[in-house]
Amino acid sequence: MLTAVAWPYANGPRHIGHVSGFGVPSDVFSRYQRMAGNRVLMVSGTDEHGTPILVQADKEGLSPQETADKYTRQISHDLRGLGLSYDLFTRTTTGNHADVVQQIFLALHRNGYVVPKTTTGAVSPSTGRTLPDRYIEGTCPLCGYDGARGDQCDNCGNQLDAAELKNPRSRINGEKPEFVETEHLFLDLPAFTESLGDWLSTKTDWRPNVLNFTKNLVDDMRPRPITRDLDWGVKVPLDGWRDQPLKRFYVWFDAVIGYFSASVEWARRTGDPDAWKPFWTDPEAQSFYFMGKDNITFHAQLWPAFLLGHNGQGDKGGEAGPYGTLNLPGEIVSSEFLTMSGSKFSTSRGTVIYVEDFLREFGPDTLRYFISVAGPETQDTDFTWDEFVRRTNFELANEWGNLVNRSISLAHKNNGGVPAPTAPAPADEELKALAKGAFDTVGTHLRHSRFKQAAGEAMRVVSAANKYLSDQEPWKLKEDPDRRDAVLHTALQVVSDANALLTPFLPHAAQKVHEALGGTGVWAAQPECHDVEDLDIPGRTNPILTGDYASEQATWESTPVEVGRPLAKPSPLFAKLDASLGETGPDWAPVQS
Ligand code: MF3
Ligand code: ZN
Repeated sequence: MLTAVAWPYANGPRHIGHVSGFGVPSDVFSRYQRMAGNRVLMVSGTDEHGTPILVQADKEGLSPQETADKYTRQISHDLRGLGLSYDLFTRTTTGNHADVVQQIFLALHRNGYVVPKTTTGAVSPSTGRTLPDRYIEGTCPLCGYDGARGDQCDNCGNQLDAAELKNPRSRINGEKPEFVETEHLFLDLPAFTESLGDWLSTKTDWRPNVLNFTKNLVDDMRPRPITRDLDWGVKVPLDGWRDQPLKRFYVWFDAVIGYFSASVEWARRTGDPDAWKPFWTDPEAQSFYFMGKDNITFHAQLWPAFLLGHNGQGDKGGEAGPYGTLNLPGEIVSSEFLTMSGSKFSTSRGTVIYVEDFLREFGPDTLRYFISVAGPETQDTDFTWDEFVRRTNFELANEWGNLVNRSISLAHKNNGGVPAPTAPAPADEELKALAKGAFDTVGTHLRHSRFKQAAGEAMRVVSAANKYLSDQEPWKLKEDPDRRDAVLHTALQVVSDANALLTPFLPHAAQKVHEALGGTGVWAAQPECHDVEDLDIPGRTNPILTGDYASEQATWESTPVEVGRPLAKPSPLFAKLDASLGETGPDWAPVQS
């Protein structure tokens, strides 16, 4: 199955709002699927074209490519630090990507789904330069939100044309833009009304937030421009367009194609250039797309339309393009926003917690856990240091860390290894059955991207095991070593099961628990950063993320603990945080009163 993860813009380091939308959920999901025995291809990369990069480049006095180079490196480090297990995390400025984008475009064009049109574009009266949509801000004509951008309204999520904004102004200098005529290529979206509608009508089990949003999409099928007046982006491979310095594909046109181009690049890098096919052309292959809610329209409307057009399956028909008949998205899994003190995480407003800072101080698994149990899965959710401290201390340290620590320490002290269950009792079987049964319950939740419920059910096993230990009091069973052995055996079995259940959420801690239980080798594999040569542009080096996940030992089932296996004295799994952190926050992201 394909795990398609939204591509972060290479315009700055990632903050925890970003990774709560696309990053952690997609990784928890993929790790579970691999453990359950499914072949997963997880791809993404940095989104490096368009005005988001140009704006940042201007700010830093760098070229767009230098800006993208700088941030793709930083972002891939952030994501590696979080343990996001991409098969390939690449970027949109590779030669491969440009080639695939152009091939998909040419197929759309051949099938008659692209039409040239003269439109109005914005120009800055003071400089005479074209003003891309994103440089323009104003009031949304649909919902009245005043911070809408020329391409999209972040409040209602609708795509916009800059010319539709009320009270438009330039984000560079506040002046009112002038609108002039310019020629662009449009995707003939109305020619997908039926085909897209048919496809959407089969999607009944998406999350309610996505379904509600997509219901309205087919009612608003106007032609959409897929080119921009910019000098930064993938070139348009048509006579009369190819050599125009100021005509490039719209960043969202090239970015969504990245899911496919990254799969092709991954295949080329494995040495089997056709290895992408089982994920894209087998009609049975599943795909799951992970993103924040402001991305839904691009994934549920535009990307499927590009694919239908390429395949010759739009309302006007046509022939399949060079890649054959490509699969449309299976599931769109969209998160809401992680907010801070009620407002969207924003670099400009100073409400920002960078992933890098977070990882340095608290490590990856506390953040992964927090996002999984308290993240914006189905509604906007406020991040507070207070709740982070509470979750970390009470759930990770007191509940899970403590269970691991006391079970293994006691067995280590009394037996030196895993004891045999010589005097079993019904309570042992009950607890073991609960843990075994959780693989089904938690697995079902994970397959449906219900991360909160999944983590909650896994933690129920942990709580039950803690209660079992408190009830059985093995530390008081000096006189009854057989019974004590049975209790400790049970506890270790359930620690091993709970560790498997928690591995998708806490892969780094899971590796430690695996070793504390006497295991060797890789339990949960981690991604690695590499510098590689671009496959098509001589002399260009790209930082990528990739990993060898097939060889990890983690599986989604109860594995019997081996009697007699030596145990070491465990070290604490999670450090408890100072309670005052909840009130003040760390000094690099203080709580604002
Ligand atoms: N860069 C976009 C954002 O951060 C997401 C792009 S997802 C892709 O909102 F599919 F287009 F790549
Ligand atoms: Zn709006």
